[in-house]
Amino acid sequence: MKLFYLTSNSSDETMKIAKTLASYLSNGDTVVLTGELGCGKTKFTEGFLSYFNLQDEISSPTFNIVQEYLCTAANIYHFDVYRLADVDEFYAIGGEEYFEKGICLIEWGELIEEALPLEYLKISFQKDPSKENTRTLKFEAFGNNYETILNHIKEEFH
Ligand SMILES: Nc1ncnc2c1ncn2[C@@H]1O[C@H](COP(=O)(O)OP(=O)(O)OP(=O)(O)O)[C@@H](O)[C@H]1O
Ligand SMILES: [Mg+2]
Repeated sequence: MKLFYLTSNSSDETMKIAKTLASYLSNGDTVVLTGELGCGKTKFTEGFLSYFNLQDEISSPTFNIVQEYLCTAANIYHFDVYRLADVDEFYAIGGEEYFEKGICLIEWGELIEEALPLEYLKISFQKDPSKENTRTLKFEAFGNNYETILNHIKEEFH
């Protein structure tokens, strides 16, 4: 399964999906979060962190580019690359070095596409114009490992 869609009708549902995903990932994995302002990328990250009991510490990385959350189970690096002028700025902050060290969640990751690892998971959030709290989450696997993970997620939510 390379691609599938889930519907979330609340921020809690989005967080639950993220928490489930977290249970399948480990250091070295990369997740790109993409979609318009306010679509739920940071909410998703909060849910992801909750799997590691780190949700209370979340702060937006908008001004720091990356926030680090280190625990025994994983190192989690939460990026927001929206404010980078270009991909060279990502290289300049040593962005690539994080990919091996932990789990990277990258808001607006499509803006630094050429710097991404060969294999990663992309989640695209789409707001519903007629339902304020509804989001469609499109999951796309780049690489066999992420295809396997998507199969698990699909089984849990369908
Ligand atoms: N189904 C849903 N999933 C996620 N968030 C939702 C949902 N319904 C409503 N919301 C609300 O939408 C907002 C999403 O904000 P969030 O900061 O996560 O967006 P973002 O994609 O990170 O935006 P930005 O691009 O500015 O960083 C939150 O206020 C959240 O409560
Ligand atoms: Mg955000």
